[in-house]
Amino acid sequence: MQVGSFTATCLPRLPTIWIFVGKGDHRLVYRAPTGEVYKVGMDRINRREHGVLQILDADPETVAFVPVYAFYDFSTAFDLTGWSMGETVVAMEFVEDDGTEPDDHDLMLLIDRLVTLEVSDHDENWRVRNGRPVIIDCGGL
Ligand SMILES: Nc1ncnc2c1ncn2[C@@H]1O[C@H](COP(=O)(O)OP(=O)(O)O)[C@@H](O)[C@H]1O
Ligand SMILES: [Mg+2]
Repeated sequence: MQVGSFTATCLPRLPTIWIFVGKGDHRLVYRAPTGEVYKVGMDRINRREHGVLQILDADPETVAFVPVYAFYDFSTAFDLTGWSMGETVVAMEFVEDDGTEPDDHDLMLLIDRLVTLEVSDHDENWRVRNGRPVIIDCGGL
């Protein structure tokens, strides 16, 4: 594939453009040429998702359900309490269902934890990889 003067023969499996992945209840999701997804849209949903991912990541019982993620805050404006009125992005590993069935115990544990954290639970929240649920959407109340 020819991109400008660059011939992308070294990356045959990766797209060389950003791809629109989908629209959720609060955010738009794009996949970068490097493979990961970026979620843009409602700031408070991005912040909440980041918080929930940190909690799940810090718990030995749930860390295996967390994809690789990053949180970026590009905010330049702050309200009177110091809270940034932000432009934020959640980056996340692209996760697809691989056709395996989720382990019942793992799934119950994850769903129970989402309920505890008051994350709205629906069947788009997680995907299944190697028989293990992986959370991809945990910003919604
Ligand atoms: N990590 C991911 N890997 C693959 N697809 C994703 C990922 N995160 C989100 N998506 C896709 O983007 C859609 C919208 O993202 P989502 O996190 O549900 O946004 P919202 O919080 O607005 O509901 C999802 O339904 C899913 O199809
Ligand atoms: Mg969603």
